[in-house]
Amino acid sequence: MAMWSLRNLLLWEALLSAAASGTQVHGQVGGSVLLVAERPAGFQVREAIWRSLWPSEELLATFFRGSPETLYRSRFLGRAQLHSNLSLELQPLESGDSGNFSVLLVDTGGRARTQILQLKVYDAVPRPVVQVFIAVSGDAQPPKTCQVFLSCWAPNISDITYSWRREGTIDFGIEPSGLFTDGQVLRISLGPGDKSVAYSCIVSNPVSWDLATVTPWESCQREAAPGKSSYKDVLLVVVPISLLLTLAGLLSAWHSYYSGKKQKDVCIDRVAPETENPLVALP
Ligand SMILES: *[C@@H]1O[C@H](CO)[C@@H](O)[C@H](O)[C@H]1NC(C)=O
Ligand SMILES: *[C@@H]1O[C@H](CO)[C@@H](O)[C@H](O)[C@H]1NC(C)=O
Ligand SMILES: *[C@@H]1O[C@H](CO)[C@@H](O)[C@H](O)[C@H]1NC(C)=O
Repeated sequence: MAMWSLRNLLLWEALLSAAASGTQVHGQVGGSVLLVAERPAGFQVREAIWRSLWPSEELLATFFRGSPETLYRSRFLGRAQLHSNLSLELQPLESGDSGNFSVLLVDTGGRARTQILQLKVYDAVPRPVVQVFIAVSGDAQPPKTCQVFLSCWAPNISDITYSWRREGTIDFGIEPSGLFTDGQVLRISLGPGDKSVAYSCIVSNPVSWDLATVTPWESCQREAAPGKSSYKDVLLVVVPISLLLTLAGLLSAWHSYYSGKKQKDVCIDRVAPETENPLVALP
C-alpha cells in the first residue's frame, strides 16, 4: 500500500507542471548544505519526497506515515539526513554533487507542492600567488616613480573573482583603468611616499575567499640597486604568458584605436625590441 501510494505520488509529480522556480543553494566541498523545504502557512505535511533530478534521477528521502526514510540507493546514500522539519541535509559534499533537486510535499487535504532547488558545490579557493613586475625605466638613476604590475593567480578553480585592495588606506577601491585580464593584473604607479604601501589580491568564489599581500616598493628598490642587470635577465625569462597576452591584447586594442595614425608605427617600433623592455611600450 505504501509502495502503491509512493508510485502514485511520483507519477502525480511528473504530471505537475507548476513547480516553484529554482532556488539557488551554494555549498563547499567537504562541507554540508541544508536544502530547505518551504512550507506555506497552514500547510500540514502528510508526505514528502526528495529527489535528485540531475545528472540522474534518484530518490533521496521520503516521509510517509510519520516516518522518515533515507536509505535509498543513491549517490547520497549515507550522506543525506532528513530533518523533522523535512529539510534535507547533505554532507560531506563532493564536487560532483552539483545539480537540481526537487521536493514534493503533500498536505493532509491532498494538496501537493513541488519545489526545485539548484545546488552548486564549489571548492574552497586556494591562497593566490602574487607576482610583482617592474616596468624598467631606461635611465640609471633610481626612479622617482615606479611603474608596477601585480599579477595574481590561483590554480584551476572555476567561478573565481579577483579583486585588489590597497592596505592601510580608507579604500575607495582600485581604479578600474589599472585592471587587466578580469582583474588578474593590476597596474600601479608608486612614488617614494608609497614605500610601505602593501597591496592585497583577494580571490573569492561564492563560498570562500583568500588573499595574498605584497609590498611592491621592495621590488622597485631591488630594480634600482647596483646588481640590477641580473634582475633584468630574470624579468626577461620570468614574464608570464598571461602578461604577454595582456600586452598583446592591449597593443592590438591600441593598434586598432590608432590605426591610420602615425602612432601605429611608433608602437610597432617600440614593441620589436621587446626582449629588452617588455613592459615599457604600454600606454
Ligand atoms: C536546473 O533547473 C533550472 C531551473 O529550475 C534549469 O534552468 C537548469 O537547466 C537545470 N539544470 C540542470 C542541470 O538540469
Ligand atoms: C530545520 O531543521 C534543521 C535541523 O534541525 C535546522 O538546521 C533548520 O534551521 C530548520 N529549519 C528549516 C527552515 O529548515
Ligand atoms: C586542481 O589541480 C590539482 C592537482 O592537479 C587537483 O588535485 C585538484 O583537485 C584540482 N582542483 C580543481 C578544482 O580542479
